[in-house]
Amino acid sequence: MFKDLWEFRAGLVEKNLQLELQRTQILDEKLARAMEYSLLNGGKRLRPVLLMAAADAVNGTGENFLTVASAFEIVHTYSLIHDDLPAMDNDDYRRGRLTNHKVFGEATAILAGDALLTLAFEVVTRQKNISQAALLSVIRELSTAAGAGGMVGGQVIDLESEGKTIDMATLKKMHIGKTGALFKAAIRSGAILANANAAQLNALTRYAENFGLAFQITDDILDVTGDEKNLGKPVGSDARNKKSTYVTLTSLETAKSLAGDAVNDAVAALKNFGDEAEFLRELVLHMPARKK
Ligand code: IPE
Ligand code: IPE
Ligand code: MG
Ligand code: MG
Ligand code: MG
Repeated sequence: MFKDLWEFRAGLVEKNLQLELQRTQILDEKLARAMEYSLLNGGKRLRPVLLMAAADAVNGTGENFLTVASAFEIVHTYSLIHDDLPAMDNDDYRRGRLTNHKVFGEATAILAGDALLTLAFEVVTRQKNISQAALLSVIRELSTAAGAGGMVGGQVIDLESEGKTIDMATLKKMHIGKTGALFKAAIRSGAILANANAAQLNALTRYAENFGLAFQITDDILDVTGDEKNLGKPVGSDARNKKSTYVTLTSLETAKSLAGDAVNDAVAALKNFGDEAEFLRELVLHMPARKK
């Protein structure tokens, strides 16, 4: 059952994140607590799980790359801390608890985010049994995905689109950046680390692009139809902030059908893979039905 493997690997990530924090010199006790508070609190660990699953699809070596996989979760966690700040989405709950700035104050939350972003690259360098060339490729994937051409760029479009009607092309660009880029980089990194050939890397990249889209459209839907307890974050945040989302720009029905299209395209991208990609298939098929 794919959910068992997901849970098992999320557990590995959880333990490894704890270990990576212990290995890190943190000068200030409050900063250490703020970093740990957001990192070790049971997110879905989707990005590291996807990295490992992509490596598995190529040659079954997923768990060898737990260290790099953890680095993706560290960047993701930083992005959540900043996303929740008053200057951005101004949300009070994340992963079932008060947001970082609510507990530690805005300045510490900003700095904990900064520290996590930089820690991620330190952690990448701790990966064992990796060639210099693969290491460089992963750093390129992670840095470009996190930056102006990816997550940060998408977040800026998101904030600039508040209260406006944007066109579909802009909406798509925003989603591809703010959410898709990190998923894509995680999956591509898993493939690269497992020495994927060009055809495999292309196929997994196409899977990743559609996974990201299906994921973020569902996130927009859950902001309307979701249950706060399950999600661990507020529903109605997008409406409160007058965000442009798939739901506001189209409709709940159209958004659901577009998420379904992305799921189908993701599955189709894996047509030349056999059982070794079954986890990736089941994971994306699960996305529209997810409750958290
Ligand atoms: C939430 O990501 C932020 C978005 C990119 C929409 P996740 O839904 O993966 O959050 P966690 O990590 O499980 O909390
Ligand atoms: C932003 O999307 C995700 C990132 C942190 C890059 P959202 O603002 O929709 O994420 P949630 O809904 O707060 O998790
Ligand atoms: Mg946001
Ligand atoms: Mg948000
Ligand atoms: Mg959202």
